Amino acid sequence: MSLFDLLRQRVPVRILPLPTRDECTEDFFYQLISTCESIVTSNPFYVRKALSRIVDSLEARSIYDDNYFDKLYELYASLSSQPLGDLDTIPQDILEYRINEQKSVKIKESPNFISGRGTTGLRTWEASKLLALRFNNDKSYLPYIQNKKVVELGAGTGLIGISLLRLASHVTLTDGDPNLVDQITNNIRLNENDALFDLKTYSSRVLLWGGPESAPKCDTLIGADVTYDVSILPELVKSLQSYEYSVALIGATVRNEVTINAWEGQLTDAKLNWEIIEIKQISSDPGVFDEPIWFDPSGGLSIKVYKICK
Ligand SMILES: C[S@@+](CC[C@H](N)C(=O)[O-])C[C@H]1O[C@@H](n2cnc3c(N)ncnc32)[C@H](O)[C@@H]1O
Repeated sequence: MSLFDLLRQRVPVRILPLPTRDECTEDFFYQLISTCESIVTSNPFYVRKALSRIVDSLEARSIYDDNYFDKLYELYASLSSQPLGDLDTIPQDILEYRINEQKSVKIKESPNFISGRGTTGLRTWEASKLLALRFNNDKSYLPYIQNKKVVELGAGTGLIGISLLRLASHVTLTDGDPNLVDQITNNIRLNENDALFDLKTYSSRVLLWGGPESAPKCDTLIGADVTYDVSILPELVKSLQSYEYSVALIGATVRNEVTINAWEGQLTDAKLNWEIIEIKQISSDPGVFDEPIWFDPSGGLSIKVYKICK
């Protein structure tokens, strides 16, 4: 992961890798300045913190004899001179997730809220990051997605579904919370200038599991971190029994063994055929950057991907 991708994903400043002397080329400074300028309107607080750490480290190593360093310093100084109140972390921010070299997805979200306004879908969860990466980059997942009709349950901020536009033949992003469905629509629009996305192939709608409405018939049903609490499992499992689909792929971050055991037990009791097709381990060291997207170990140290058929 490049430092620029880490900044766009708002990886905590304390773990950002500092550039080596050899990395501090003109091109590096140019990219750093343009990345910071692109972030500064949505989160000046983060840019100031990041620049403070980077500038301090460059100065400590006397790496400031470059024209570009002056420009970087000017940007940092302009943010430092503003009163702290103006720079405080804003509740919503626009993060950018690097899916692969060609594709990144912008998501407006509330990264500091695990739960708020009665929902857990205000920020992007770890299993969404994993499934967005695997569906786009891993050949073993491609047959479930490429040119398939896909429906996402509990889409939250919409990262996975949005990353599939163009790859799948049609994607329906759903969530039980109408406010989140509006947010998903806005997030789709945030990415509409990107030539890699074909916006004609998507729709978004409210879908409450276990409610009177059914999901549209599809090839692949997907969901990420829709298993976070035992209280929501019965309705989810009921939906997996009743909706019409060929295969369901559900990503679940393991936070609590009791919840995961309840989920697996209820799938078995409902006579659904299920298997775990991947377990991703997340390093407990937050400074490990082994995928194009950073995974936050405080969210859980492993993610299981379930393949479910009726
Ligand atoms: C933990 S969040 C995960 C969001 C997103 N998939 C992600 O990984 O970033 C769970 C999502 O499931 C949705 N949800 C919870 N219960 C639901 C239900 N009964 N019907 C439909 N959606 C539900 C929430 O609104 C929320 O967006």
